[in-house]
Amino acid sequence: MAASLSAVIDQVKFDLISKTQAAENAAKRKEIARTFISDTITVPTEEMYSYAAHASLGDDVYSIEPSTAALEAHMAKITGKEAALFMPSGTASNQIALRTHLKQPPYTILCDHRSHINKYETGGAAFHSGAALTAVIPSNGHHLTLADVKDNIITRTDVHFAPTEIVALENTLNGTIFPQDEIVAISRFAHSLEIKMHLDGARIWHVAVETGTSIKELCDPFDTASLCFSKGLGAPVGSCLVGPKDFIAKARWFRKLFGGGMRQIGILSGCAAYALTKNFPQLPRVHALAKKAEAGLEEIGASILSRAETCMVLYDPSPLGVTYDEIAQRGSALPEPLFLGGSRLVIHLQTEDAAVDDFLAIVRQLAKEKRIAGFIKPEGQFMDVYAKRIV
Ligand SMILES: Cc1ncc(COP(=O)(O)O)c(C=O)c1O
Repeated sequence: MAASLSAVIDQVKFDLISKTQAAENAAKRKEIARTFISDTITVPTEEMYSYAAHASLGDDVYSIEPSTAALEAHMAKITGKEAALFMPSGTASNQIALRTHLKQPPYTILCDHRSHINKYETGGAAFHSGAALTAVIPSNGHHLTLADVKDNIITRTDVHFAPTEIVALENTLNGTIFPQDEIVAISRFAHSLEIKMHLDGARIWHVAVETGTSIKELCDPFDTASLCFSKGLGAPVGSCLVGPKDFIAKARWFRKLFGGGMRQIGILSGCAAYALTKNFPQLPRVHALAKKAEAGLEEIGASILSRAETCMVLYDPSPLGVTYDEIAQRGSALPEPLFLGGSRLVIHLQTEDAAVDDFLAIVRQLAKEKRIAGFIKPEGQFMDVYAKRIV
């Protein structure tokens, strides 16, 4: 080997597995088990990777990757749609769905003001599709109603206003379940005006488990739906967009155009299949743990801002004279720390039961200390769950 070639090889080579990697990964798993900030942090298990490593080895850009095609066919079947497309992320799935639906501005997408499409996709609807958003505050503080949609829909009658072309609903939203009869009513109304329905069903799995409703029934009122594998289901990457055959064929072009065409993704599809088979059935435990956290908080005297309908509970400790910062500081000071955000507690399939017990013990202890220090809960100052709007 020429001296210069071996020097080049030396410069390029890189071993990223540290000597302490196994211990670091074990510590990471522990951290995840005690983190309440999001369910997007769930990590693949060795069992998931072992299964996925046996997936097929095709190239999903040159042709159709076999394991991925099988996953897409399965997703089309369980959602009752004609076709499906594996996506690198939930954001890509939503944005490509919107882009594929929307052809010629001006137009508007109607959605809940708290929705991911409105708040957390970097203004993507405007950037990719030239769309305006009508971000509606639900009048009941929980979910959009048919009346909310009717009040905010923009018809093709007045040139001052960009007409509504899509109603995009999110289920679950902040962990809450959108009543299916309301979705059906909104869908009938939207379709009567030739307005498309899109579902951001990143966490639709939770609705299916909690209500015993099939994924197909939940997706039926929608023309297209996006479902994520990488949140509550614990896969490392991936979402699926489902819809009519022609629509998905066009979305495949947009996925490539946006740089989301992926090649040897059999291993990712394998992770998704594992998540559907092994992790989905674990969600009832997740919901039970979220309900346990909610019951404990209520019993201690915190306000519940949004109930643990699935895997999240939003709470307010101020009736106890306690702040989120105090709870987070106590949590991080434990020998096995807890990782907490503000009002939102997210439980996921890798949350350990002891983390919920430790969290409740901290809130209980802080409340006791505040009482001893003379804090008295003011009467009537705190609003109940639906009176206080979550943003
Ligand atoms: C409801 C909802 N939709 C879409 C997304 C986007 O998913 P991703 O982070 O994979 O882009 C998220 C992310 O958390 C989400 O919560």
